[in-house]
Amino acid sequence: MSDDAATAIENLSQETRTFSPSSEFVQNAVARPSLYQEAERDRLAFWRSAASLLSWKTPFTETLDWTDAPFARWFADGTLNVAYNCVDRHVESGHGDQAAILAEYEDGTDATYTYAQVKDEISRMANVLTDLGVKTGDRVAIYLPMIPEAAFAMLACARIGAPHSVVFGGFSADALRSRIEDAEARVVITADGQNRRGKQLPLKPAVDEALATGGDSVEKVLVVRRTGGDVEWNEGRDVWWHEAREDASAEHEPVWVEAEHPLFILYTSGTTGNPKGIIHTTGGYLTQAAYTHRNVFDIKPSTDVYWCTADVGWVTGHTYVVYGPMANRTTQVIYEGTPDSPHQGRWWEIVEKHKVSKFYSSPTAIRTAMKWGEDIPAKYDLSSLKLLGSVGEAINPEAWMWYRRVIGGDRCPIVDTWWQTETGAIMISPLPGITATKPGSAQVPLPGIGADVVDESGKPVENGEGGYLVLDKPWPAMLRGIWGDPERFKETYWSRFEGLYFAGDGAKRDEDGDIWLLGRVDDVMNISGHRLSTMEIESALVSHEWVAESAVVGAADETTGQAVVAYCVLNNSNADSPTDNDELVQELRAWVGKEIGPIAKPKRLFIVNELPKTRSGKIMRRLLKDTAEGRQVGDTSTLADASVMQAIADEVKND
Ligand code: PRX
Repeated sequence: MSDDAATAIENLSQETRTFSPSSEFVQNAVARPSLYQEAERDRLAFWRSAASLLSWKTPFTETLDWTDAPFARWFADGTLNVAYNCVDRHVESGHGDQAAILAEYEDGTDATYTYAQVKDEISRMANVLTDLGVKTGDRVAIYLPMIPEAAFAMLACARIGAPHSVVFGGFSADALRSRIEDAEARVVITADGQNRRGKQLPLKPAVDEALATGGDSVEKVLVVRRTGGDVEWNEGRDVWWHEAREDASAEHEPVWVEAEHPLFILYTSGTTGNPKGIIHTTGGYLTQAAYTHRNVFDIKPSTDVYWCTADVGWVTGHTYVVYGPMANRTTQVIYEGTPDSPHQGRWWEIVEKHKVSKFYSSPTAIRTAMKWGEDIPAKYDLSSLKLLGSVGEAINPEAWMWYRRVIGGDRCPIVDTWWQTETGAIMISPLPGITATKPGSAQVPLPGIGADVVDESGKPVENGEGGYLVLDKPWPAMLRGIWGDPERFKETYWSRFEGLYFAGDGAKRDEDGDIWLLGRVDDVMNISGHRLSTMEIESALVSHEWVAESAVVGAADETTGQAVVAYCVLNNSNADSPTDNDELVQELRAWVGKEIGPIAKPKRLFIVNELPKTRSGKIMRRLLKDTAEGRQVGDTSTLADASVMQAIADEVKND
């Protein structure tokens, strides 16, 4: 870590302001202070009791089997069905008429789906999937925009025990193909297109492209009609959802699966190689999803209107749009569009319209709203809000305070929730109504969770010290492995510190013992709360015929937390490459957008003559990061040729 960054962190964790919840909030809070003691006294009994938030077809007798660590088995001899838990049981208990989804579309139209209607929709889709040949255990890829059908598709898969692999709709055809191939998906569920910033963007062509050159496991493509208009049609392979739905029965018996049956695979970037397919299973995952959602968001099913702005393409959209909220019979908003379409007050307009009471979003979104100005949210009545959440990256105290004052009217507790695709559910967060919150810190492990900050040798640090974040006890929603690569699972997470899960994040304990997250300590970048690996983007760049070598770093960015900065060395032998620098840069940026997806496009890209390397040929990314962040370049003594770095620094300065 550079000295400047270390000082910034030092200043940050000196934060002493705390905000206690109001007595009214405390009186009505869902979470009880005794949860901490209960979990401390008997952790397994605590999780057993959390599992009673679910309806089990066959009750489990064993809570945790950790004999084959790090491969955990939770509640293993119990059986259940996730869709039944998220939908049917609410209908059976007389809440069929409660709104489950308040859909807001980008063009200003809306729709409401009650729990009874969701039950019918997912039953129909489960029947259609079965007709298309999907069996329990088969994988289904889902490539959809943020529309209710995305949740229906996930729940329909869960209903038949077919693990889904949701691929973010902003990912490219190549990214989709590699995920389809890795999981050997049998069916893809997609849409004709999506509405984005007033435009209709096609989606299905990416599926066609992905399947034209691979993805041989795919037999059928189920297509949701969203934007209308013409689409290329592959007879025999493609099926319209609205047509299949007409003939499908709304009766469907859920498939009861064992608690350790895989529920989904979700790909996430690692430090090396292709994105890894993180495996989550049924009983433990849903237990922790439901328990954390209920307690962290203080959920009162009959009165709350909840809104998590995440896309289902990311883990937040899995756990805190679909599974947690629906297991808890929550009424929630699902919004198709972007925050600034058709105007910058769109989110707050939705909060006012639906009287949203619990709002969960990301620091990048908050910082963007700050940039747009507080007069925009001021135009809307946000008095329905009772609690605000943040996830994806550290929220700086300034943004935290703005969120609290401007959006939360100085009355809403803020829960800064730390977790990962791998953890499946929230691990570190204040509990509203109990914890006095502190701007910028995720603070304390939730009851039942063992988290610590350790030094290089794996020893817990003292208060006031920094180190690495680890999880020292198995938890129900933990990943069960990496799809098809159990060794990589052990190597990535369990080899750094004996017996501890290494999260990949740096952290610090302040004088009160509260935990501060300091960002990734590996080559994973965090762009707007989304994980991207430097390697992934480097390989995309070198796959372009003009590029001989490239190095990518995540540089601090005021709005998006980090931004992608790339340095490329061109291939001398390529006569076709343009000589104009701007043209080169634009082409290479667009190339990354096409290869991976627009979120991976380098914000800045520099053409350089050489990359800074050590004598043994290792690229010194640390120095490139210094330059990208406008700092004096650090120690260059290990470079084979120190003048290389000077040339790069000059190039960046002149940009
Ligand atoms: O670096 C941490 C950061 O996001 C990483 C996990 O990314 P992903 O698997 O994509 O999941 C994001 C949503 C759960 C973590 O390793 N991160 C997530 N939440 C926080 C955070 N960093 C600081 N504070 C947070 N609240």
